[in-house]
Amino acid sequence: MTWLITGGAGYIGGHVVRAMTEAGERTVVYDDLSTGIAARVPDGVPLVTGSTLDADRVAAVLREHDVAGVIHLAAKKQVGESVEQPLRYYRENVEGLRVLLEAVTEARVPSFVFSSSASVYGMPDVDLVTEDTPCAPMSPYGETKLAGEWLTRATGRATGLRTACLRYFNVAGAASPELADTGVFNLVPMVFEKLTEGAAPRVFGADYPTPDGTCVRDYIHISDVAEAHVAAARRLAAAPEGTDLTLNIGRGEGVSVREMVDLIADVTGIATPAEVTDRRPGDPARVVAAADRIGTELGWTAKRDVREMVESAWAGWQRQHPEARTRPRG
Ligand code: WQD
Repeated sequence: MTWLITGGAGYIGGHVVRAMTEAGERTVVYDDLSTGIAARVPDGVPLVTGSTLDADRVAAVLREHDVAGVIHLAAKKQVGESVEQPLRYYRENVEGLRVLLEAVTEARVPSFVFSSSASVYGMPDVDLVTEDTPCAPMSPYGETKLAGEWLTRATGRATGLRTACLRYFNVAGAASPELADTGVFNLVPMVFEKLTEGAAPRVFGADYPTPDGTCVRDYIHISDVAEAHVAAARRLAAAPEGTDLTLNIGRGEGVSVREMVDLIADVTGIATPAEVTDRRPGDPARVVAAADRIGTELGWTAKRDVREMVESAWAGWQRQHPEARTRPRG
């Protein structure tokens, strides 16, 4: 059977395609290359360029490749940008999904994995976030991911489509340097950028109700995330009609911004002291996953720790920024 990976030329998508291929699954990538990089798609995996908003092109790729499952990763994902351009985010992330689901239904594709996000929870006031924690997204991006889950599950109830909505927590790292994230929109690359410039990394607030006053997040290695997609795809392929999974993808361990900044200093050898700035609006103090359900449903657990995330991310950063040199210790 062939899996269609939308957004398969992206940071997450490139890793999912690599993991699916290494697991012996046949794939085809559909990507508009707006932020994706064609070189991320391995030799032997077809790449069809296009948008999920193009109904005819989507229907054609489902038909021509005899697609039996879809892993939908194509989306806009910058929280800040979504606040400035909400309608663009709703069009790409919600209307694009609606068009795709319509084509999937028409072609009777039986399985669908949807890339969701911890952003659907907003500011959960709990120690560990379970899949039953109320969802109250704080950004249009998070809203589009929650709406995407609604569309996906409603289609499953109406047609018997087997669905899995995977809620990623804070993804970091790279399976190999050439697959590293090229965006500088999250903590780890944002700190790398400051250190590479010889500037002070910024800690957005140190007066949160957390052990060291900085925000706590659940960082998860991209390779673990990719392996969770393989497990979800295989589970759906063998599942009864109407199977509906909603699963957190995290490690279940909180790490603070201060701890991450200190780890990055240790890995890079660049010990420029961080500066504490004002809080960033909309940042919850703590968002850490309960990862029990994914373990029970898929037999998946995270294997990699934050040091491996930072080390692999740094190797990728250095490949993109040759001027970034690891400083010798001492
Ligand atoms: C992490 C922590 C910042 C940069 C976002 C999306 C979420 C998901 C993961 C897609 C926060 C702090 C950051 C810096 C800092 N993405 N920080 N200095 O906001 O937890 O989640 O990415 O699904 O949808 O919302 O991740 O990496 O932006 O920030 O202090 O230079 O690091 O305040 O506490 P976030 P992040």
